[in-house]
Amino acid sequence: MTSIRIKNLTRTFDTVRAVDDISLDIKHGELFTLLGPSGCGKTTLLRMIAGFADVESGSISFDARRIDGLPAHRRDIGMVFQNYAIFPNHTVAGNVAYGLKARNVPAAEIKSRVDKALERVRLAGYGPRSPHQLSGGQLQRVAIARALVIEPAVLLFDEPLSNLDAQLRTEMRIEIRQLQQALGLTAIYVTHDQEEALAISDRIAVLRQGKVEQVDTPERIYRTPQTAFVAEFLGSTNMVPGIAGAFDGRNTHVAAAGTEFAVRGEIAPPGAPVLLSLRPEALRLGDGSDGPRIQAHLTLREFLGPMQRLHATLPDGTQIRISALGAQAFDVLPGASLALAYDPAQIKAFPSP
Ligand SMILES: Nc1ncnc2c1ncn2[C@@H]1O[C@H](COP(=O)(O)OP(=O)(O)O)[C@@H](O)[C@H]1O
Ligand SMILES: [Mg+2]
Repeated sequence: MTSIRIKNLTRTFDTVRAVDDISLDIKHGELFTLLGPSGCGKTTLLRMIAGFADVESGSISFDARRIDGLPAHRRDIGMVFQNYAIFPNHTVAGNVAYGLKARNVPAAEIKSRVDKALERVRLAGYGPRSPHQLSGGQLQRVAIARALVIEPAVLLFDEPLSNLDAQLRTEMRIEIRQLQQALGLTAIYVTHDQEEALAISDRIAVLRQGKVEQVDTPERIYRTPQTAFVAEFLGSTNMVPGIAGAFDGRNTHVAAAGTEFAVRGEIAPPGAPVLLSLRPEALRLGDGSDGPRIQAHLTLREFLGPMQRLHATLPDGTQIRISALGAQAFDVLPGASLALAYDPAQIKAFPSP
């Protein structure tokens, strides 16, 4: 097991600060995800850790050992890429053996380690096959076996599931998570898919324009985003601008979207512009409980099986989305008014940009 310490890492391409003074501490055995939109610097940061991109300033250490001066093949990492990077003219076994041959491991040991790695990714017996005979999911398993076979201290994944269809993605992410946990490996996982990040990570760093916005567990990243960017990136939240009003000792009253919201805590001085984040599941319909509520009009209902997504307008015309259970309030027709209940503690407020 290996911990990773990244200190003040920076990398510039022409005028773009792809990685801008990033510091992170990744623990032994953690699956740590770098999450953010395309172009935010995830791949550049991962390639710097792998040794495929130069470090302009800052340092990278595995445990107490500084590794940013070492060539890639001496860093003790296994890497899995989005496009698999499988050699088409080698057999499956030849692909998996690649890193062992480069390290001059004896042939008999190569055979047993390749077999074991293929077994781990549920491809026992596939060694003699050609990559052409394999599906996308199987090819990615070969790539994972190739990364595992060298018994690396650290596993790096760069969007490994992006080329697979939706169902396979959700299956493979569980396989990756189980393998990483079973082997107790420290892993850094890059994705732009927020659901994938929430599903498999111990902790997530949300990146934006080369900088870290927040590092936290999936639950805390989702429930207590520290910035409006994190709130918006994680789950399709409703962002509603408003003006803070009086604090009543418990909640701050905020005028927004032609109505008034109660938000837990003293969030801003009266008169300050704020942005409210209302999660689609934080607004409840047909709810008999006490507590604050707002009025809205139903405009459209999307039935999604176990769930439905309701589209509604607030008094000033602002459009919002609400998640409800599949069977809830099915007698409500578009145009009808809805009373939406909420818990003031579930509404997050951010300074207006
Ligand atoms: N080799 C390169 N040359 C020039 N610009 C690059 C290079 N690699 C990345 N960039 C730029 O750095 C930024 C971050 O890119 P990247 O790390 O690939 O982001 P991500 O993986 O999050 O999509 C982008 O603006 C990208 O255009
Ligand atoms: Mg990338």
